[in-house]
Amino acid sequence: MLTTEQKNSYQQNGYLVLEQCFSAEQMSELKQSANNIVAEFDPDSTRSVFSTEDHSKTRDDYFLSSGDKVRCFFEEDAFNEQGALQQDKALSINKIGHALHQLVPEFKAFSHSDTIRDIALDLGLNRPQIHQSMYIFKQPKIGGVIRWHQDATYFYSTPLSVVTFWLAVEDATIQNGCLQVQSGGADIPLKEQFLRYPDDSTELKTLHDIPWPDDDSAKPLEVKKGTLVVFNGLLPHFSAPNLSDKSRHAFTLHITCADTEYAKENWLQATPSLL
Ligand code: FE2
Repeated sequence: MLTTEQKNSYQQNGYLVLEQCFSAEQMSELKQSANNIVAEFDPDSTRSVFSTEDHSKTRDDYFLSSGDKVRCFFEEDAFNEQGALQQDKALSINKIGHALHQLVPEFKAFSHSDTIRDIALDLGLNRPQIHQSMYIFKQPKIGGVIRWHQDATYFYSTPLSVVTFWLAVEDATIQNGCLQVQSGGADIPLKEQFLRYPDDSTELKTLHDIPWPDDDSAKPLEVKKGTLVVFNGLLPHFSAPNLSDKSRHAFTLHITCADTEYAKENWLQATPSLL
């Protein structure tokens, strides 16, 4: 599936962009499936929002028990001061997580496709297994910032092996908050580890107190829908708020090598799916 040149580029840069790897029709199908989930979702069933800015208020039970479920999470700015939705429900959801790859037929078929498996194997993931899937909406105007982070923070293993598969379901641009990555390779150690304790309290523990790259030095990955970006768990990345009037839908998978030891302190302990 991947050429030697692509494999070398991944090793060197920590990420690889596979342009329009999937068809527009496939993206429409995934988008429709996600929209159906939101249509069936009762917003009064939860007020949980998702934020990487404030861990204390968001890592609640709704989130921590979602590893083997399909749940909708609101944008931070979805509600007004009275607690009412400020716009249509369909434009208020931040993401759906975290077991679409197991429970929703369209996402299950996509996630377990030969293409995904072959890429995982080519990237060196022996016995690849999917731990998590997320459908991210990055809504127009209110799609929030995702600060600099490394995905291995949330998927620690010994040795580290997590690879993120980031699929553009819609065109991603600087204006609608595309993925931005550290240029020049993932050559920094893991800065943080997200720990879940037996009492369900959590901590974002600093492992290496070194600075994140400057925003200005990041490389924005502006990609067309159907493009798959794969990147390793150490690659620092972020995305800016979406201030445009276009959404930026994406679907992500987090895949580790089953030969590595997945940490029991990771927040997500659902049984992974072998590819
Ligand atoms: Fe990430």
